[in-house]
Amino acid sequence: MDAVLNRVSSPTFVGRADELAALDGALGRAAAGVPAFTFVAGESGVGKSRLVAELEARARRAGARVFVGHCLELGGAAIPYAPLVDALRPIARELADCSSEIADALPPASRAALAELIPEFRGKEPVPDGEGHQARVFEALLALIERLGRVQPVVLVLEDLHWADPSTRDFLTFLVRNARTEPLSLVVTYRSDELHRRHPLRPLLGELERTPGVDRLGLERFSREEMQAQISCILDTPAPDDLADRLFERSEGNALYTEELLAASSDGCHELPETLRDLLLARVERLPETAQQVVRVISAEHPMRHALLVALCDVDEAELLHGLREAVAHQVLVTGAGETYAFRHALVGEAVYGDLLPGERSALHARLAETVDARRELMGEVPAAAVDGILACHWNAAHDVPRALGSSVAAGLAAKRVLAFSEAKRHFERALELWDRVPDAEERAGCDRVDLLRHAAAAAAHAGETARSLALARSAIAAVDERAEPLRAAFLLERLGHYLRWAGESEEGFATYTRAMELLPSGESAERARLLEHRARGLMLRGRIREGATGGAEALAMAERCEDPMIQIRAMNTVGLSRAALGAWDEGITLLRRSRDLAAASDMPTEHAQAITNLSEVLDLTGRTEEALGEVKAGMQALKAHPERTANDTFMELQGVSLLIKLGRLGELEPGLPTPKFGDAAGTTPIFLTELRARLALLNGDVAESRRQLAELRRLCLGTLDPQWMEPLHALEAQSALLEDRLDDAREAVRQGLGALDGTDDGTRIVRMAWLGLMVEATAAERARALAASSSPERTEQLEDELQRAGAMPGGWADAPAYETLARGEAGRVRHALGTAAPDPAVWERAVAGFAVLAQPWPAAYAGFRAAEAHVQAGDRAAAVEPLRTARDRAAAMGAAPLLEEIDALARRARLALIVPEPEAGRSEPESPADRLGLTPRELEVLLLVAAGRTNREIGGELFMSEKTASVHVSRILAKLGVGGRVEAAAVAHRLGLTDAAASV
Ligand SMILES: Nc1ncnc2c1ncn2[C@@H]1O[C@H](COP(=O)(O)OP(=O)(O)OP(=O)(O)O)[C@@H](O)[C@H]1O
Ligand SMILES: [Mg+2]
Repeated sequence: MDAVLNRVSSPTFVGRADELAALDGALGRAAAGVPAFTFVAGESGVGKSRLVAELEARARRAGARVFVGHCLELGGAAIPYAPLVDALRPIARELADCSSEIADALPPASRAALAELIPEFRGKEPVPDGEGHQARVFEALLALIERLGRVQPVVLVLEDLHWADPSTRDFLTFLVRNARTEPLSLVVTYRSDELHRRHPLRPLLGELERTPGVDRLGLERFSREEMQAQISCILDTPAPDDLADRLFERSEGNALYTEELLAASSDGCHELPETLRDLLLARVERLPETAQQVVRVISAEHPMRHALLVALCDVDEAELLHGLREAVAHQVLVTGAGETYAFRHALVGEAVYGDLLPGERSALHARLAETVDARRELMGEVPAAAVDGILACHWNAAHDVPRALGSSVAAGLAAKRVLAFSEAKRHFERALELWDRVPDAEERAGCDRVDLLRHAAAAAAHAGETARSLALARSAIAAVDERAEPLRAAFLLERLGHYLRWAGESEEGFATYTRAMELLPSGESAERARLLEHRARGLMLRGRIREGATGGAEALAMAERCEDPMIQIRAMNTVGLSRAALGAWDEGITLLRRSRDLAAASDMPTEHAQAITNLSEVLDLTGRTEEALGEVKAGMQALKAHPERTANDTFMELQGVSLLIKLGRLGELEPGLPTPKFGDAAGTTPIFLTELRARLALLNGDVAESRRQLAELRRLCLGTLDPQWMEPLHALEAQSALLEDRLDDAREAVRQGLGALDGTDDGTRIVRMAWLGLMVEATAAERARALAASSSPERTEQLEDELQRAGAMPGGWADAPAYETLARGEAGRVRHALGTAAPDPAVWERAVAGFAVLAQPWPAAYAGFRAAEAHVQAGDRAAAVEPLRTARDRAAAMGAAPLLEEIDALARRARLALIVPEPEAGRSEPESPADRLGLTPRELEVLLLVAAGRTNREIGGELFMSEKTASVHVSRILAKLGVGGRVEAAAVAHRLGLTDAAASV
């Protein structure tokens, strides 16, 4: 080869001023402690990598620490966290050279999680490997970034995200959602032309790129001028116009294509190949034979270490080196850190690999796998999990079924160790596919098919693929002979029972536990106690509290005799909660305290957090809400001392939030609620969070936000039947519908809520739901009266029956009587509207007193408002002032805008002088509903007559205007109210209190 080009690429960076400015800006923000995320998108060869390389140099000069990780194409998707491991390699080296403060500062379990990815993180003291959450690895990585960031800003570049493995994708989501103050600038690149319609990156990008703090940089091809600058720099002399024209016509400004075209034409190649791929191959084909051979080998696994290449190639080392030198000189290959070779451009590697003959390809994979299998050290610093993944990939590509099976199982187990459950599931399922084709499958896999199914089911369950986990667990059970191996079958049934409950199939889950118990040898055992406990807890959560209490007690006694502390702690928790719910409050609280203390003493932080949450729940429900809050606060302190978060920590924090809302102390809430950490996602934490968000929105009267949160809550609750979530969901839906004047929807929500509670022993929840139902009926009855329409008390009576039934249930919580009083008050409103009873302020005043004792200001304020209203209706305006004033103070203190509005509306129309505080500076006084709707006084008059059922002619007569004018007024009013007809307009007028105001004038 003679005419070797000096260089293929431009040494000078061309153009991209705007993009660099954006990336500099991101780094600047990061340095100031605001994490920045930039997604660089563009077609292959357009210049993404070059742009980030330029950024890298600039960031280093600016004093940042830069980490770059590449997603791998071949089998990349099977190797968990590939680019992260790649990026963090420099740290591994640092750790190997000297023990680093960075690693020492991390909690032991974080180190352990990182050590699975990067062995150098392993500390001196061994860490027990527990059931892990993927969150653990993620949080460990975030903690590491945070630690690094204390020294200097961190730039993390993840290249070629279109090839990322699922765990890396999950991590990215986690990072964008959870990085808050880390001085981190994350830059990812991906090929926009690689994202076909069903590419897994698509939905993720769609979501992430809309997140605040995330910028998308779409990289365009070079303009004609930029391209000319590029070739001028390559040639080191101004490029003639006709050359530039010729190249631009073909490359259309794609930087890589331009380079290759230029290289080909200066190689003396006159017939330029048609496609980029042919162009790339043409350059490889012009290499000497050994060089071509080497390039083909590297195309199956790159970057490739020199040592591995030597082991793979049959030629002697001198010849090999000669070939390599040629390939590097022709800029097909480039050398990298750690004695590696890679393609100058990934597209060249892809073209070469794509050009291998089928037999050649599988033989190459087989040789690679065999060599690496025998000498893993040839892979250098690649972590064990990744080597297993790589091996599985190559054996599969080599079509060596037996070894593909063995290596897939190993790769699955390795992925599971680093908590990469999606990859683990994929490897296990691949092994299952191959199983029947391998005679000595068990030996190859190191386990039998049942265990493989069990692993796959667990991985699927943890990866959130519920239906798949059920199918896999059922296949495992079907493959076991219950008579021959009863214990094993019982164990598998227990797992199936869990997955069923996770899938919302509680009943079948319970039945499955029972079947499992039947298989255990008769007599007591820790296994039986555990099953009893799972079943009891499930029943309790399902609202079948009596069964939960009995079953839990049985589990507790057995666990005590078998001396199994974990089951004791859990059982005490279940029994404590259910006994308290059945009315034995002190007994329940004592048990929950014992559970909490035993968990603390046994160093079981997950159970500890759970015991605290449940204890505080019971304290709250028994009317000791302040104490409950204290318990959560103390618990959070205690658990902070523990080096690791547990999956229950966020839930416990949210419990604290819920208590503060109940106590009306909204000022003490942190801005933004504690968000679920990644590992909580499969559990109930997001449900709780969304419930609280919806509740807050409703409290503040933010209708749009409450709608949004309720839609999300409904989605999250799919698959659960537990009253703990069903009741708030339907109750909030009913309240939100009432706020928006959608009475039919409110009624439907109550109906569904009562349906969800049907068959439970949860009297208090039923009472609360019946109260809301009666509130809806009262609103409807008052509206009917205003429209002089008839209404029947039938639904009211049904709801009162529900109340009766719930009252007869055992036990109940402290606020049940107060809610029942509220419910009676609403029933009274209905009867007053029907004209069958006088207004009854006393019942509402009893409710006020009840909620005041419980320190629950919202229902106290609501009841106070109704008490005042009843006094006004009874003609005693003076008696209304005091309760309304107190109600107003309570509502104002917690910012309960909609309630405050109703209170002020009542005060205005009844002309009650409340001491309304001066409006704050810059805030105008709340408008009356009529003002808010923009109704003129004249229109208000007309509306009141419409509400009274008058025709246009009658209105005209009464207000001394023509019928025509009246009709113009009416259509204007309808438009302002956003309603379609007179009846609806009347309803709105009534709801807003306009008709009452008129009546009392
Ligand atoms: N701004 C630039 N100035 C000079 N040369 C550039 C510039 N951008 C790209 N190039 C050259 O074009 C070639 C292709 O660019 P690069 O490797 O960055 O593409 P890419 O978008 O990362 O492609 P892929 O998606 O295939 O990874 C490289 O050789 C690079 O040096
Ligand atoms: Mg690139």
